[in-house]
Amino acid sequence: MAEPRIVTVTGAAGNIGYALLFRIASGQVFGPDVPVKLNLLEITPALKAAEGTAMELDDCAFPLLKGIDIYDDANAAFAGTNAAFLVGARPRTAGMERADLLSANGGIFGPQGKAINDNAADDIRVLVVGNPANTNALIAAAAAPDVPASRFTAMMRLDHNRAISQLGHKVGASAADIENIVVWGNHSADQYPDVSYATVAGKPAKDLVDAEWLSSYFVPTVAKRGAAIIEARGASSAASAAGAAIDHMRDWVQGTPEGQWVTAGVASDGSYGVPEGLVYGFPCTSNGGEWEIVKGLEISEATRAGIDHNIAALEEERAAVRELGFVK
Ligand code: NAI
Repeated sequence: MAEPRIVTVTGAAGNIGYALLFRIASGQVFGPDVPVKLNLLEITPALKAAEGTAMELDDCAFPLLKGIDIYDDANAAFAGTNAAFLVGARPRTAGMERADLLSANGGIFGPQGKAINDNAADDIRVLVVGNPANTNALIAAAAAPDVPASRFTAMMRLDHNRAISQLGHKVGASAADIENIVVWGNHSADQYPDVSYATVAGKPAKDLVDAEWLSSYFVPTVAKRGAAIIEARGASSAASAAGAAIDHMRDWVQGTPEGQWVTAGVASDGSYGVPEGLVYGFPCTSNGGEWEIVKGLEISEATRAGIDHNIAALEEERAAVRELGFVK
């Protein structure tokens, strides 16, 4: 059997952590033949709750799970890590300004980026889930100069999956029939879910839906789905967020299916006019090694406006964290 892959999950005692860890331990990221070792990172007051989660992981007797360790020290938690899910973040609370939120999260993702830089394995892959995910990924990457920026990614896959489901409901198709949707930009209400290139059972999606439905229902419904879940459930998306995190890391590690792309938040190389370095939702493929941005798509006027709107939003966040000294 292969050597165990070391997977670090931050915020391990939280809601997403509770939905995520069991799926990693059952082999859903690396595949059915690859053992895993889990490192759980939490803040000190949540260590006891993390222990409870670890006890339950133990009780599942997962054949692939080769060990669980719990830490409140990032350097120890990222020692030798191959895959990191950065889930723990400072939530926005009443009266908190955006600058306060960015500053509080910079105080988490900066040190975690440095701990990854100093301790993780050479093949480290990082998925930032904790919000504001795109800019938190930018901050972590900036604190890790020895790790390629391409290894720090942000979760746009939940938005991508939500877009697939909304389109599927509209046209009466199952998720399996829908390919090549993309959600450009930021994991926020600014995002631009786009069916321009999508197919439904091989037919162009834009021939099946009208522009009015796209602009007045599809885009806002996908972009505001997180708020709708909170309204309905009284708590934010957890199982679906964990599912999307698994999808992202699995496709990164094992590759995307031939001829299909998914949405991933990756550092821009300047594609589609997105300024270099911004962590931005792009259509991406993976050959099981690195994410590659899909190039050369024809961009409609509506898509251009959506892309530009998100460039502005993310540039604003980058300027704010620059001012706070988290990125150069
Ligand atoms: P939660 O509040 O249930 O859990 C967060 C956990 O993180 C807590 O156990 C807390 O103790 C821990 N934590 C806080 N600071 C930490 C630190 N410095 N190091 C390690 N652990 C730390 O929250 P939940 O529901 O699990 O959500 C986590 C994050 O994921 C939130 O920021 C949420 O906004 C974000 N999210 C992102 C989505 C995406 O699509 N990108 C979707 C849904 C949620």
